[in-house]
Amino acid sequence: MKVTVFGIGYVGLVQAAVLAEVGHDVVCVDVNAERVENLKKGVIPIFEPGLTPLVQRNYEAGRLVFTTEAELGVKHGRIQFIAVGTPPDEDGSADLQYVLAVAKTIATYMDFPKIIVDKSTVPVGTADKVSACVAAVLAERGVEIGFDVVSNPEFLKEGAAVADCQRPDRIVIGTDSPAVEEKMRELYAPFNRNHERMIVMDVRSAELTKYAANCMLATKISFMNEMSNLAELLGADIEKVRQGIGSDPRIGYHFIYPGCGYGGSCFPKDVQALVKTAEKVGYVPALLKSVEQVNSRQKDKLFAHVHSYFKGDLAGKRIALWGLSFKPNTDDMRDAPSRVLMEKLWAAGATVQAFDPEAMNEAQRIYGTRADLSLMGTKEAALIGADALVVCTEWNAFKAPDFEVLKAHLKHPVIIDGRNLYEPEMLEAYGIAYYGIGRGRSVVV
Ligand code: NAD
Ligand code: UDX
Repeated sequence: MKVTVFGIGYVGLVQAAVLAEVGHDVVCVDVNAERVENLKKGVIPIFEPGLTPLVQRNYEAGRLVFTTEAELGVKHGRIQFIAVGTPPDEDGSADLQYVLAVAKTIATYMDFPKIIVDKSTVPVGTADKVSACVAAVLAERGVEIGFDVVSNPEFLKEGAAVADCQRPDRIVIGTDSPAVEEKMRELYAPFNRNHERMIVMDVRSAELTKYAANCMLATKISFMNEMSNLAELLGADIEKVRQGIGSDPRIGYHFIYPGCGYGGSCFPKDVQALVKTAEKVGYVPALLKSVEQVNSRQKDKLFAHVHSYFKGDLAGKRIALWGLSFKPNTDDMRDAPSRVLMEKLWAAGATVQAFDPEAMNEAQRIYGTRADLSLMGTKEAALIGADALVVCTEWNAFKAPDFEVLKAHLKHPVIIDGRNLYEPEMLEAYGIAYYGIGRGRSVVV
């Protein structure tokens, strides 16, 4: 099938490549000319396992085309995906300007009926806004061309995006039209084998499903972070508690890892956006507000530990930081806990020596060159001459360091671990002070 994807970011690029791989003919349109030019040369803008060969293979086979020419994109596909960003605006609501700009573009150039697919995460009611926008432009043009707007939210996780798109748990389609459903079934047929993954519903329910999924997962994390704070005060170990409750299949082991707060481009903004959606219809979303509040408190936690360990005297201290990305297997630093920590350390007069296996270029792009941030070539180099080590991301490379080397490099043998990678008893045996998250006796007092 002929498909067009607007927005070649994490979602658009991965989805386009996966659709091309099964034989669809995909044109990708982006307003970022540098990104498009780089993709044509095989330079992939993001780090995502398995993505580079997938894109290159399909680009060379001609099934994947990259362009800034919107008209070319609109004229290509019967199916037009909108996969652009929906960042928070000033009050936290999802900013729909990019989505509506694409809708307008599609309406401006379309010359045969289109199925417009909202792949971006958008508030309930957005499909109606997209429809109204397209209808208005068609009316201005004085043409009558049929179109449908479908909600098809994306559930991929960064770091596993290719696998998630190739083997989705579910494909949610929001439409009331049997003809559109049939076309979407044809598009996704290669991903819907062996058992039924397609869940078809009305548009508004599909739009809410995406927010409900992310908010449920964020709620699990904030709940565990709240328990971890209690565990610290009560002298319990949250890691034992986690296993104790995860063994109940009604609770399960997934997404109950306490830590230094959830980050990324989805949970923080989607929880906020659903709060705003609720408030706009006169509902007070007490639980969602607490989820957000617990998370922002949790993101301050590592700094509070460092501050307390050095008794508030952070001026001139050098802090080694392992992990900049918001989670492993990505170079994405959007809303990463590491950023909250670094910015607080800088404000307190400390400097940071950081290492991340993939996010060094991204850190350089965000923070540029500054005297209080040194981006180091290895995790060991980040330790040399540092006063303490803080771990922000659970990359595999950080899971079994040489603790003797670590102790020798640090001025104060102390690890503040935002991801509970190490066992307190083991570090005690090495003579290293250890502060995890919710690990009772390791709390800084
Ligand atoms: P992104 O910022 O990585 O990519 C968005 C792309 O859209 C950029 O390349 C930008 O240049 C392009 N763009 C902006 N305006 C455009 C226009 N008018 N025409 C063509 N291209 C345009 O964003 P993302 O992370 O891929 O997220 C996209 C959407 O998917 C968001 O709504 C997000 O909430 C949702 N989502 C993201 C994830 C994730 O893990 N990143 C997962 C599920 C859903
Ligand atoms: C999330 C959703 O999982 C995905 O379905 C949706 O499409 C986009 O948003 P992503 O943001 O890529 O995906 O990462 P995810 O693995 O969900 O982690 C989000 C944050 O939660 C990370 O900062 C991670 O460290 C944190 N987290 C996750 C925890 O703190 N504890 C956990 O148990 C799980």
